[in-house]
Amino acid sequence: MKPEIIITARGHAGTMATLQSEFTTHLLSEAPDRNAFLKQHAPAVRALATFGPMTVDGKLMDALPKLEIISNFGVGVDAINLDDAKKRNIIVTNTPDVLNEAVADTAIALVLNTVRKFPQSEIYLRGGNWASRGPYPLATDIGGKTLGVLGLGRIGEAIAKRASACGMKIRYHNRSRKDVSYPYDPDPVTLAKNSDVLLVVTPATAETSRIINAKVLDALGPQGYLVNIARGSVVDEPVLLRYLQEKKIAGAGLDVFADEPRVPPEFFSLDNAVLFPHVGSATVETRKAMGDLQVENLRRHFAGKPVLTRVA
Ligand code: 8YV
Repeated sequence: MKPEIIITARGHAGTMATLQSEFTTHLLSEAPDRNAFLKQHAPAVRALATFGPMTVDGKLMDALPKLEIISNFGVGVDAINLDDAKKRNIIVTNTPDVLNEAVADTAIALVLNTVRKFPQSEIYLRGGNWASRGPYPLATDIGGKTLGVLGLGRIGEAIAKRASACGMKIRYHNRSRKDVSYPYDPDPVTLAKNSDVLLVVTPATAETSRIINAKVLDALGPQGYLVNIARGSVVDEPVLLRYLQEKKIAGAGLDVFADEPRVPPEFFSLDNAVLFPHVGSATVETRKAMGDLQVENLRRHFAGKPVLTRVA
């Protein structure tokens, strides 16, 4: 008998296929009646495979009394209430490390694109402006500038390595100082003040919600750039939009938004913003590795072995 699991939403195709072949699966996001669906499957379902931002809280956990494990596709587990899981002795796993390099590539691309305005220069060319209006205006170097990393974890360190290779100086702020050679700033405002580019890569928690606010952006100042590859919730998005419109900061590079995939259309007309549709880990190789780890955690759990990457 294959273990029964619920898949919260349609995710990475190869991983979905593996889950469907190794387990008896039920897809929650497409159930016409969520309550009836949960009631029907509650007696047998022992695991959730989660994809995307659907909230997994105590209410959902209580609707599935046989639930033993929640295996998330992705390193960020902000959609899952970890306290609720802990209280119910439900294991939560994620997919760390396998995505570090791809996400760091995205981050450094976003830093370069934001500061050098490469996407805007391409739009200029495609619009036929080069011949008629002359060269695209000069941008700014990243070499010699300071990258402030808010959240120097495993991904942050991979980004710092790349930025150092581009000649950037690195500083950081975490809740506590790490054993690294980069200078530490005691809070986000000080980090912003000391940075030319402030890069946000902190996990989204209640503590980091809107941690990038007007005070931090004021400290970053009109010559400073914000790059966010963490979660939209860590930035006060309406304030950021206003600061970009009023040129109170020089620019922003955003891979994540507060209400994805919906992006406030006011962002689209900004010349000082570079916008990516949450592609941080979006490569064939990395998404496969994430899916393999998500499935492996489930396999091991059902084989009575310890899971590989437990977060709670
Ligand atoms: C994935 C991510 O985009 O790992 C994360 O936390 O944000 C991304 O790597 C996402 O989980 C895939 O849907």
